[in-house]
Amino acid sequence: MSDRRKFFGRALGAFAGLGALGALYAAKRTWDPLPSVSAAGFTTVDLSQAQDNVLYTEMWRGKPVFILKVSKSDKAYSDKRLINVGGDKFFIAIGLCTHLGCIPEYFPDEHKFICACHGGQFDAAGEVLKAPPPSPLVIPPFKIDGKKVVLGEEGPEYKKLKDAGLVA
Ligand code: FES
Repeated sequence: MSDRRKFFGRALGAFAGLGALGALYAAKRTWDPLPSVSAAGFTTVDLSQAQDNVLYTEMWRGKPVFILKVSKSDKAYSDKRLINVGGDKFFIAIGLCTHLGCIPEYFPDEHKFICACHGGQFDAAGEVLKAPPPSPLVIPPFKIDGKKVVLGEEGPEYKKLKDAGLVA
């Protein structure tokens, strides 16, 4: 093999390696859990370290739960489904598409979730942007405790959303 071909082969290998690392880093950022404790059907998640526009996924009763600190610049920032925790606004929802239950992926640059199964889309507050999902992503029962959220317990903030018909 000529030196030139070897050089291009190595350069291509290095480039592919960097791409794989980048993909791994992006996946880790998406799935990095926040500090949490689970007991007796409740999962307590500390939101104090959450970063703007980074999706965190926690497991609660065998289901993924999305937690997203919504940026002030996001169009969804004023949505009534967002939860105020210590002055910051969070989107918290079960991470299963309301069409047929696939797990949508979050695209931070576009501030939206896209479901790969049939192309459904949701904004950063879980509202449907594009069918076929028939309804917004579902907000699970939760209670706010300082800078923490307890998944599985119906706190006053959850009851307020429920009374307004916004939890499903
Ligand atoms: S399951 Fe998500 S669009 Fe069909």
